[in-house]
Amino acid sequence: MLKRGKLLFLQCRACHEVTMGQPHKVGPNLHGFMGRKAAAAEGFVYSNALSASTLVWDVATLDRWIAHPESVAPGTTMAFVGVANEADRRALIAYLDSATR
Ligand code: HEC
Repeated sequence: MLKRGKLLFLQCRACHEVTMGQPHKVGPNLHGFMGRKAAAAEGFVYSNALSASTLVWDVATLDRWIAHPESVAPGTTMAFVGVANEADRRALIAYLDSATR
């Protein structure tokens, strides 16, 4: 599942790093984001939509986000259509959880 998740993360990689010390890209570096309040990466300028939200990145919220970011935080600047397949989202979340620690 981690292997599959890593492969699926290729569609996120253009915009996101996952390891500590790497720069922000179009999107914030995701190191340490699991369990954290949304829009909390140091030095990244988030949209008002995400900054003003009260979201916390747990598995359920992340699943909805990856499925369709716009319906979780309307007005988000994350230009990504979403991953429709539930098993793919599960694999992605498992990968993210391990790769961003
Ligand atoms: C085209 C660039 C782009 C792609 C592709 C993209 N993202 Fe993002 N992502 C962003 C931007 C920009 C933000 C900040 C959104 C905002 O401020 O509204 C963001 C925010 C996030 C956040 C919230 C981080 C935080 O600190 O609150 C998560 C989690 C996330 N993205 C995961 C993913 C995953 C997983 C994928 C692939 C399935 C993905 N992103 C694909 C640009 C992208």
